[in-house]
Amino acid sequence: MPDTKAMPAYITTPIYYVNDKPHIGHAYTTTICDVWARAMRFGGHDVFFLTGTDEHGVKVEKSARERGIEPQALADENAAEFQKVMGLFNLSNDDFIRTTEPRHEEQVRAFVKRLHEQGDIYLGEFEGWYDEGQEEYHTETKAKEYEYKSPISGKPLVRATETNYYFRLSAYQERLERFFEENPDFVRPEARRNEILGRLREGLLDVPVTRTNFSWGIPFPGDEDHVIYVWIDALMNYATALGMADPESSDRARYWPASFHVIGKEILWFHAVIWPALLMALDLPQPRCVYAHSFWISEGQKMSKSMGNFIDLEQLQGYMETYGRDALRYFLATQGPLGATDSDFSRSQFHETYTTDLVNTVGNCASRTSAMIGKYCDGKCPADTGDCAGGGIEWPEFTAEQVDASIRAMERFDLAGSIGAAMAIVRKVDGFINETAPFKLAKQPGTESQVGDILYRCAEAVRIAACLLEAVMPDRMNDLREAWNLGEPSGDLRSECAWGALQSGTTIEKVALFPRVEFKESE
Ligand code: MSP
Repeated sequence: MPDTKAMPAYITTPIYYVNDKPHIGHAYTTTICDVWARAMRFGGHDVFFLTGTDEHGVKVEKSARERGIEPQALADENAAEFQKVMGLFNLSNDDFIRTTEPRHEEQVRAFVKRLHEQGDIYLGEFEGWYDEGQEEYHTETKAKEYEYKSPISGKPLVRATETNYYFRLSAYQERLERFFEENPDFVRPEARRNEILGRLREGLLDVPVTRTNFSWGIPFPGDEDHVIYVWIDALMNYATALGMADPESSDRARYWPASFHVIGKEILWFHAVIWPALLMALDLPQPRCVYAHSFWISEGQKMSKSMGNFIDLEQLQGYMETYGRDALRYFLATQGPLGATDSDFSRSQFHETYTTDLVNTVGNCASRTSAMIGKYCDGKCPADTGDCAGGGIEWPEFTAEQVDASIRAMERFDLAGSIGAAMAIVRKVDGFINETAPFKLAKQPGTESQVGDILYRCAEAVRIAACLLEAVMPDRMNDLREAWNLGEPSGDLRSECAWGALQSGTTIEKVALFPRVEFKESE
């Protein structure tokens, strides 16, 4: 087994367009990356977690013009909104990159210059089916399949001719196919990988990497009438944030390549095909995985501007005020669309998840355990006497299995699986309390040792589960740490989760982690 502990880990979100305000989709992707980043840090990894904003391109230029302001002013305004999300959701990103920053622009130009000089980018003329909303060309086969309409907006595709600089994507066809075969986990989930492979096998066209119809972008090195296409500019953020145009002089180069580029399914083609081809051309190692999640829909309906039903920051803040931000993080991480199907964000399901998992399970177990330790053991953690009165559970073995399952699931970005394994520990404690009924046993004389032993097991199991849940619910699990005097996370999650680390005699204060909330339909 390699020593993975000090291994660098790098996770990225898409960089978000600044022509719009942040909503649940952006908060979702960033939150799930945060959960992973925190979990890896608890496991002792050297983590770099990147997010940011995508500020160039015709859409931003257009939105700014509509508002009568400069594109940079619009970018500044909305980048600040996105940064606000970081605070609201308690996001622990190590950097926030903006594509209008000189550090990014300079490196993009350096990369593009290199590609041009080595012949991977050439000046050419092209005619094809263009999706104006998506700024993307489709092959004849695809255009026909879409009935010559945009699969995203439904607007007609237009026949367009352009003199542009092109990236020789077609030259990477075979290498990409081989790369996909050799790395079956490169694109996840699997359904998405199959889609991409299918499309890849239809054959690749060279892609334009510059535009002349607008000016809000990075000028093409050596031919400033052209600006670099926003997608090429944007994808490169993953490399520029680490200073990869000159890795020798960057102290972040050790994080390359990414463990996970986490994105929504609509931008998978760029990340799964164009980005790897660019990296091949630049001779940079490939990311381990591009994880393309599905979409949140709202109360059963697709969210769209025309419907005006986006769950926006204000609504999310409302949930946080009522339920706490950890509750929102928990809901997003466990009920979200990490698989190949979309997930529904509904008020009633949010409430139910909160009540069932957090109030009745985690909160209840922690409060019952600490209340009984208060009552029967003077608020001091009892000793593990081995004098267990029933229950029939091999706690050290059972928790070790769940800990292992939880850590492994997190490592492969199965957030619900990881959290589920931690929750299985808490549920077991719940059943154990009911079965062994220490509150009844305590009424009989001479049972102190047995009662203490039961409560030690409950407290120790809750503590272990809390360590595993800390990445998703940092606020509340930290409350538990403080109330139970557990100290700071050690940076070695596995040892921290070993049975027996809880010392008898430790002061255990009563905790109320998740208050019950009454459901209000109308909010
Ligand atoms: N700027 C590009 C990405 C460039 S990455 C090199 C972009 N930006 S975006 O602002 O439109 O953000 C898209 C991302 O927001 C999606 O990939 C996804 O992460 C998130 N979501 C947007 N709507 C969403 C849902 N309804 N549900 C879940 N996430 C979604 O595309």
